[in-house]
Amino acid sequence: MTKFNLVATAAMGLEAIVADELKALGYETRTENGKVYFEGEEHDIARTNLWLRVADRVKIVVGSFPARTFDQLFEGVKALPWEKIMPVDAEFPVTGKSVKSKLYSVPDCQSITKKAIVERMKKVHGRLGMLEETGPKFKIEVSILKDVATLTIDTSGAGLHKRGYRTEQGEAPLKETLAAALVYISKWTPNRPFVDPFCGSGTIALEAAMIGQNIAPGYNREFISEEWPFMKQEIWDEVRDEADQAANYDQPLQISGSDIDHRMVEIAKRNALEAGFGELIDFKQMQVLDFTTHAEDGVMIGNPPYGERIGEVEAIEQMISDIGHMMKAYPTWSVYMLSSMENFEELYGRRATKKRKLFNGFIRTDYYQFWGRKSQKK
Ligand SMILES: C[S@@+](CC[C@H](N)C(=O)[O-])C[C@H]1O[C@@H](n2cnc3c(N)ncnc32)[C@H](O)[C@@H]1O
Repeated sequence: MTKFNLVATAAMGLEAIVADELKALGYETRTENGKVYFEGEEHDIARTNLWLRVADRVKIVVGSFPARTFDQLFEGVKALPWEKIMPVDAEFPVTGKSVKSKLYSVPDCQSITKKAIVERMKKVHGRLGMLEETGPKFKIEVSILKDVATLTIDTSGAGLHKRGYRTEQGEAPLKETLAAALVYISKWTPNRPFVDPFCGSGTIALEAAMIGQNIAPGYNREFISEEWPFMKQEIWDEVRDEADQAANYDQPLQISGSDIDHRMVEIAKRNALEAGFGELIDFKQMQVLDFTTHAEDGVMIGNPPYGERIGEVEAIEQMISDIGHMMKAYPTWSVYMLSSMENFEELYGRRATKKRKLFNGFIRTDYYQFWGRKSQKK
């Protein structure tokens, strides 16, 4: 077993949630912009890839050192123990980025990094000539921030938002990682009713169902590090077995999603089927303002359209105001809406209990949180 410095990368604003997820899995963490550092062994690489719902990727931090010149970069990269992680036939593409640093030419930094690793691998393995790179893939990144180079290797492959259930997507699907974060922030628990009245392809409802039944988000997908020699098959079998044991498939759920567009509802249903929630989530075609319920203490989470054209914006504003009015009839329900509309509270007719700035891709949004009051039955 080897001890690795690891980092879970996260979208801006979601680092604290990823840190909480890691702490809940038993790791000590250190958070920086977009990054949550932790330590672990081979088993932890597999386990965190399988379980993190809000992180983008899990990477191995191979090393970090000051690099103000190409020579420093070359020597620093060459000094790192690449042969302990990669086999001699590894394919290793190098990507790069540079922020506020003397070494700003990213293509040059990438090729110097590549050359330094080749030289190290050839020396250690006593090879002459080129390395063939016919083996498993190790995606390396050289990232230079304020003249400090950090070398990482991606252990996830496709981003962790790819859970493997999305058959098709609608026009503006939320990333699964953000959808999971919205559910976590709401503190929804599976004994409470859950509704997404703008469900689109069903992302938020599906993430809620996986959280509700404690299903590992990565259970149905593969990771690039599954191909690596030191990440033995037994490790993956073990973490998948653990995940299977931890899942609570019998947990009843009261999750529903609706959308005005019947085509979206069909997509949501297909995604639910793929995720193994076939009949467990109730998806139907409905206009948001037709929502009615006898249930108490429910949670409504939605991502209403933002509206691009002038007529559209007005209609959406009217709809938000109507939702605010409609939800007055359900005082024990908590309503959470992710919207880029800055006048959302004004339209909704109530000051949000809390707001949180979040990015939906490149769109700056707020997560407006209107808490319900507890019902008498509790
Ligand atoms: C931004 S998208 C939601 C995307 C969704 N979160 C996902 O991950 O796929 C907004 C959705 O609201 C739906 N919509 C627009 N007006 C609506 C209304 N009045 N009632 C219900 N749904 C509506 C649209 O059809 C669209 O699917």
